[in-house]
Amino acid sequence: MPVHLEGTSASRIPSLRDFDLEGRRLLIREDLNVPIKDGVIGSDARIRAALPGLRHALEAGGRVLAMSHLGRPKPGRFDPALSMAPVAVRLGELLDRSVRLIDAGVEDWPRTCADIEAGQIALLENLRFLPGEVENDDALSSAMAGLCDIYVMDAFGSAHRAHASTCGVARFAPCACAGPLLEAELEALGRALAKPDRPLVAVVGGAKVSTKLGVLESLAEKVDGLIPGGGIANTFIAAAGFDVGASLMEPDLVDRALRIRRAMIESGKDIPLPVDVVVSTSVDGSAPVEVRALDAIAPDEMILDIGPQTARAYGALIEGAGTVVWNGPLGVFERTAFAAGTCEIAKAIARSSAFSIAGGGDTLAAASAFEVVDDLSYLSTGGGAFLEFLEGRTLPGVSALEARLP
Ligand code: 3PG
Repeated sequence: MPVHLEGTSASRIPSLRDFDLEGRRLLIREDLNVPIKDGVIGSDARIRAALPGLRHALEAGGRVLAMSHLGRPKPGRFDPALSMAPVAVRLGELLDRSVRLIDAGVEDWPRTCADIEAGQIALLENLRFLPGEVENDDALSSAMAGLCDIYVMDAFGSAHRAHASTCGVARFAPCACAGPLLEAELEALGRALAKPDRPLVAVVGGAKVSTKLGVLESLAEKVDGLIPGGGIANTFIAAAGFDVGASLMEPDLVDRALRIRRAMIESGKDIPLPVDVVVSTSVDGSAPVEVRALDAIAPDEMILDIGPQTARAYGALIEGAGTVVWNGPLGVFERTAFAAGTCEIAKAIARSSAFSIAGGGDTLAAASAFEVVDDLSYLSTGGGAFLEFLEGRTLPGVSALEARLP
């Protein structure tokens, strides 16, 4: 199935499913960057997301070599805490077959990988142990390419990185294509942003405007409604002239927030602010928790969630949308006292008949905490990659595949 991004060259990127894979050597870049503590995997969601591509490759008789990074180790040095060993074990359990971990040096790769047979899979050790991976080194890229007949990019979560395994290898491999996860991600994001059913409403929460300024500016031009949440909303609230007390906010970005808000209002778009908020003098819930009107926040109080009236108003906006893009919580949802706003919004997105897409680590944690995972249209596996796509930036892992097009 080709990627459906009408009118873009991504729509012409070949798909893994287009090839006869019998006996072919497949090098598949996955994003198996899962949380691991003391050798125990915290969430295997990214491993599970890789399964459709791997299963297809194995069932079609491919000789599969998977590869991924894990964490951010210092290159040139093995770090046992960031070994792919637990990932190989979990992958083997999920695929119901053994997954050999290849920890040989680059020069020994050809010999060590030669005996992967049709229908078998091995996994390379953490790519970021290798000097040259993050530098997108040509020699390393070409050594990777030498291991395969077909290079498959299926790591959407790493597609914003121009590294040897996500980018350089595509230039040297005999043939390069997209795997089903990358296709699904591009298709869902393309559907939400390129040709959305309107109104298109974005919910952008999280702690700081500074980490999502590009996303906010880019979305402000595309959407019909933008709901800022969390600490991000506080800067918008301050820009509208309200006193936010001791809330987290970025004074340096008040002018930028004001410009974004004014531009949206001038073009007839919706960028609502809360009418009521949940405040406290302590984040840990040990001090009294109150609901206050926006103009009644005391100097020592922090805004830690949206209030019930606001949650209802935002919910109505979401329920009337044709498309919803969600990134970031609306309050400190990890604390029960400040979770109601994010919960209400998550449930409104789930209830809405809009095409909904959510992405980012905190967002997925919130979606899972409030049990709406199965009611969203698409959950992206990307964190940084999801944000860069929303920002309208080119993803090097995708453009490397496009560069191979005739
Ligand atoms: C992620 O977790 O967002 C990806 O795996 C990319 O990881 P990185 O930010 O370390 O490149």
